[in-house]
This record gives sequence, structure tokens and C-alpha cells, in this order.
Amino acid sequence: MLDKDAFSNGQIDSKLWLCQELEALGWTSELTHIYGGWYGVLGFLLLSRERFKVDRIESFDVDPLCEAIADMLNENWVIKEWQFKAFTLDCNQGVRGTPDLIINTSTEHFESLEWFDRIPKGTRVILQGNNMPHDDHVIHSSTLQEFVAHYPLSNVIYQGELLFVYPEWKFTRYMIIGVK
Ligand SMILES: C[S@@+](CC[C@H](N)C(=O)[O-])C[C@H]1O[C@@H](n2cnc3c(N)ncnc32)[C@H](O)[C@@H]1O
Repeated sequence: MLDKDAFSNGQIDSKLWLCQELEALGWTSELTHIYGGWYGVLGFLLLSRERFKVDRIESFDVDPLCEAIADMLNENWVIKEWQFKAFTLDCNQGVRGTPDLIINTSTEHFESLEWFDRIPKGTRVILQGNNMPHDDHVIHSSTLQEFVAHYPLSNVIYQGELLFVYPEWKFTRYMIIGVK
């Protein structure tokens, strides 16, 4: 069944924040990879906003349910010679291709840091995490500094946090943009 959390305020505003900060950098990309891409919402937002110039986005998720949903959401770009394409893949096992930008907004869900260790030095990355105590969160960060320390980069271009406050609970999303 579709997890409606993918469309919640905490998920969408976090991805819009990523879009805004990425667009402000003026970066272009021939091939962007999204790890743990879930239902392809980030790909949809980046492509529909049309401010980040990217030739092709590939979205990878280990959950086999995600590929068809992400492709459906991004059908407008799937039919344009695969400007978007989702794949079922465990990113810890290695991802083929030579992307010039790798995005992972699902870092807390990955079982190990193998996916990060495999990224070649010099590759641009955008990573998000959060301080939510959650059963299926493997990597926990209580502060932005702790989050940044998990992912050593040669050049940190942006780091920031976004607080979400609701009547019953709150959490903070962290983001770093830089070069590995
Ligand atoms: C709950 S979702 C995404 C939440 C996240 N905050 C976001 O921004 O979309 C986490 C996703 O990571 C995926 N995932 C976890 N480990 C993975 C791996 N090794 N390779 C690819 N996808 C993975 C899960 O299947 C799931 O779809």
C-alpha cells in the first residue's frame, strides 16, 4: 500500500528546501542519481520546477514497489527519452553509471554507509537526515554537527537545518551540500 507520509508536510517541505538551495547554486547536471528515491517525489519536484538544469535523473530504491510508482509520477519525463527513470536497486551494493550529482534524502534508512563509501571523491552530493527517533531509522543524528560528521566531504558548500513543529511533536531535518 502507498505510504501517504511521502506526501506529508515534513517530506514535501524538506524536498522543496533542497530544490531551493540547489537552484540557488546554479549547478547543472548531465546525470543526477537519487538514492532511496522512494516514490520519485524529489525527481518530480526538481523536474517540474525547471530551475535546476538536469539532462537525466535516475532514482534508485531497494523496495520493488517504488519503481512503478516513481515512474508513474514522473511519466511526463519517462516518455521523453527517460529524462527520468526509476530502478529497483540496493545502493549499498553499488550503482552503475557516472553521475555528477548524487542526492540521498533517506540517509537515516540505509543499513550501512557502504553507499557513501562507494561514491567517488570529487562527486557533488546533497544529503538529508533528521533527528527523529524512529524504529526503522538506522543512523541517528541529534544535531546538525553530528549529521555532518557521518559524511566527510572535501568541500561543504551548504549546511543547514529546518525545524518542523506540530501540535503533538516536532523534528529537525538536516541538509549538507558539497563535494565528497
Ligand atoms: C521512508 S523512505 C524516504 C524518507 C526520506 N526522508 C525521504 O526524503 O524521502 C526511505 C527509502 O529508503 C529506501 N532505502 C533504504 N535502504 C536502501 C538501500 N540500501 N538502497 C536503496 N534504497 C534504500 C527504502 O526502501 C525507502 O523507500
